[in-house]
Amino acid sequence: MSIRKYKISVIGAGNVGATAAHICAMKDLGDVILVDIAEGIPQGKGLDIYESMPVEAGASRVIGTNSYDLTKDSDVVIITAGIPRKPGMSRDDLLRTNAGIVKSVTEQVAKYSPNAHIIIVSNPLDAMCMVAKRASGFPAERVMGMAGVLDTARYRTFLSQEIGVHPDDIHALLLGGHGDTMVPLPSYTTVQGIPITEFISKEKLTQIVDRAKNGGIEIVNFLKTGSAYYAPAASSVEMAKAILRDEKKVRPVCAYLSGQYGFKDVYLGVPVILGAKGVEKILEVPLTADEKALLLKSKEAVDSLIKAL
Ligand code: APR
Repeated sequence: MSIRKYKISVIGAGNVGATAAHICAMKDLGDVILVDIAEGIPQGKGLDIYESMPVEAGASRVIGTNSYDLTKDSDVVIITAGIPRKPGMSRDDLLRTNAGIVKSVTEQVAKYSPNAHIIIVSNPLDAMCMVAKRASGFPAERVMGMAGVLDTARYRTFLSQEIGVHPDDIHALLLGGHGDTMVPLPSYTTVQGIPITEFISKEKLTQIVDRAKNGGIEIVNFLKTGSAYYAPAASSVEMAKAILRDEKKVRPVCAYLSGQYGFKDVYLGVPVILGAKGVEKILEVPLTADEKALLLKSKEAVDSLIKAL
């Protein structure tokens, strides 16, 4: 019996894209096609990653290109094309430029890989997911965004650092848009099932939630020339792996809502089951009145961006 090799295409060979391609190859997820408009960049970075495979004992073939031919029949496509933030910019400042880029890129992706799952990383994330859904015409379960995995990764890092436990033992959920209006859910944060409040004061938890909310800008202010890429890339690859390997992982994902949480026709971060069918199920968890109000605010912020398009 022959084992089918997966194909993952990463669009945008900048900081996030090249790092995601590298992690895909390191995890031996399949062959990786790296696409960018900049001539030579995807070719050079792709070849460099490919040349690390003998050292890593990996079997992934990695190819960089400026065209979409080689992306044909991709199983998963991670879209990172676009401009990143600089200090003083919000994710929403990227709206118009990145909407144009994500639209044109998605049209090509959909043409060459009509059965692919699309994971959007380009910001502003929630609005870009809607652009990609419209441009691809794909069913909602195959167009999703990476934000919650990253936001909870930041939150879990800070909690693990504070409490002194393995980050993997910290389970956390955040809802809402990727940005200032994200909705942290301390009541769903546990250390192996033990409520987080057993380990940390309310004040400290609030500080950590705030730091996680502003986790992106913290990195932008250090880097000055761009935004975070190691953790975003790792988070997008975790989602790709859950789909390719049908892992049924429960993760916060930017997913299309069609009535869940009382919202329709909008992308928002919610807990989902990720598997071979993509977003296989959106999980509706009970929320307090305050959390519901925050989620509504988050949804309105995403709506206003989509309207601005
Ligand atoms: N097609 C393909 N690639 C494109 C296109 C396009 N139409 N337009 C731009 N690109 C490429 C650029 O040439 C560049 O190589 O996208 C890449 C973006 O890389 P960086 O500038 O390094 O940005 P990065 O840090 O990777 O962030 C990309 O992800 O996290 C988000 O907010 C971030 O929207 C930004 C995106």
